[in-house]
Amino acid sequence: MSSTAGQVISCKAAVAWEAGKPLVIEEVEVAPPQAMEVRLKILFTSLCHTDVYFWEAKGQTPMFPRIFGHEAGGIVESVGEGVTDLEPGDHVLPVFTGECKECRHCKSEESNMCDLLRINTDRGVMLNDGKSRFSVRGQPIYHFVGTSTFSEYTVVHAGCVAKINPAAPLDIVCVLSCGISTGLGATLNVAKPEKGSSVAIFGLGAVGLAAAEGARIAGASRIIGVDLNSNRFEEAKKFGVTEFVNPKDYDKPVQEVIAEMTDGGVDRSVECTGSINAMISAFECVHDGWGVAVLVGVPNKDDSFKTHPINFLNEKTLKGTFFGNYKPRSDLPSVVEKYMNKELELEKFITHEVPFSEINKAFEYMLSGAGLRCLIRMDA
Ligand SMILES: NC(=O)c1ccc[n+]([C@@H]2O[C@H](COP(=O)([O-])OP(=O)(O)OC[C@H]3O[C@@H](n4cnc5c(N)ncnc54)[C@H](O)[C@@H]3O)[C@@H](O)[C@H]2O)c1
Ligand SMILES: [Zn+2]
Ligand SMILES: [Zn+2]
Repeated sequence: MSSTAGQVISCKAAVAWEAGKPLVIEEVEVAPPQAMEVRLKILFTSLCHTDVYFWEAKGQTPMFPRIFGHEAGGIVESVGEGVTDLEPGDHVLPVFTGECKECRHCKSEESNMCDLLRINTDRGVMLNDGKSRFSVRGQPIYHFVGTSTFSEYTVVHAGCVAKINPAAPLDIVCVLSCGISTGLGATLNVAKPEKGSSVAIFGLGAVGLAAAEGARIAGASRIIGVDLNSNRFEEAKKFGVTEFVNPKDYDKPVQEVIAEMTDGGVDRSVECTGSINAMISAFECVHDGWGVAVLVGVPNKDDSFKTHPINFLNEKTLKGTFFGNYKPRSDLPSVVEKYMNKELELEKFITHEVPFSEINKAFEYMLSGAGLRCLIRMDA
């Protein structure tokens, strides 16, 4: 039992007081975990585009003040009542979507959409009592997707925590807590390209390049990267991307460009942009008869997907996924092992690093399209 168990912990957290305004490092009070919750000491976190969307709150439901962050690695500090499979000292990755292991989804091999703990971007409180575990000078601060990792300590539901090999370096495997597992799983678990097939990847950020990595592992022979930012192309070669298309270079829709390049369309496509136009193009660019498109990007609240139904009649398939269809507790430890066995390279996704005190720089890098993942060190 740690000396802080059962006590309120005062620590530093980066609080978003207002949409789009720089985060402010504040002294926060973090309440002890309640039943089925755990309190984590976060050691490393990184920024994913989903944090940025909800912080900007353009086309998303605004909820402030809030502590963002959902891609992280840490150590269990203390556990609440009823938690039996985690203990202080365990190395863990928190995940924005959970696994209760009891509902129909958790029992289904096909789904990771747990009834109890699936992602909910509109909830800013804990399930147990509908309250926040964070406060600043007595004012409650909202949680984000049940993780809120931009804090030295955070409280999460035990079902949203994957216990991993303690030998795995948390400053590297933390990127598996969201983006990289999502992209990899979107290809390997959902798109499932066959050996020798063609795959288009829309959006060459960390999620898209992880999807490209999945296509390379699956033995795809053509991996076509699509991005509006041409600076992405050089980096993408390291991830097995063989050809590039910038939609801005053409005066016709990118799906037509891809159809011409591939004799009618790609076998698979994975969309990792969050742009509704890219989602539609990603669907329409797959080959009729067998093509499968997988949506991963988080859309705006009011977006709607429009395509001609003949595309479906022509036997194109549209799918989508959260977290690459991985069940966080059951599957994530083995993804970490893929890194440990050198089947999966993660270092190349981490292009920047900042101390926690400079977390706003990570937002600047993402907004300017510089690099892939920015590691944020909590102890620095
Ligand atoms: N479904 C999930 O479980 C899940 C998990 C993590 C992230 N996401 C989402 O995945 C997406 C990618 O995340 P990321 O962290 O890699 O972001 P990122 O900002 O690093 O990368 C996104 C890339 O998409 C490109 N892009 C934007 N609009 C485009 C368009 N119309 N056509 C082509 N390229 C375009 C950008 O230039 C950028 O390079 C985001 O929408 C994020 O919210 C979803
Ligand atoms: Zn994410
Ligand atoms: Zn469940």
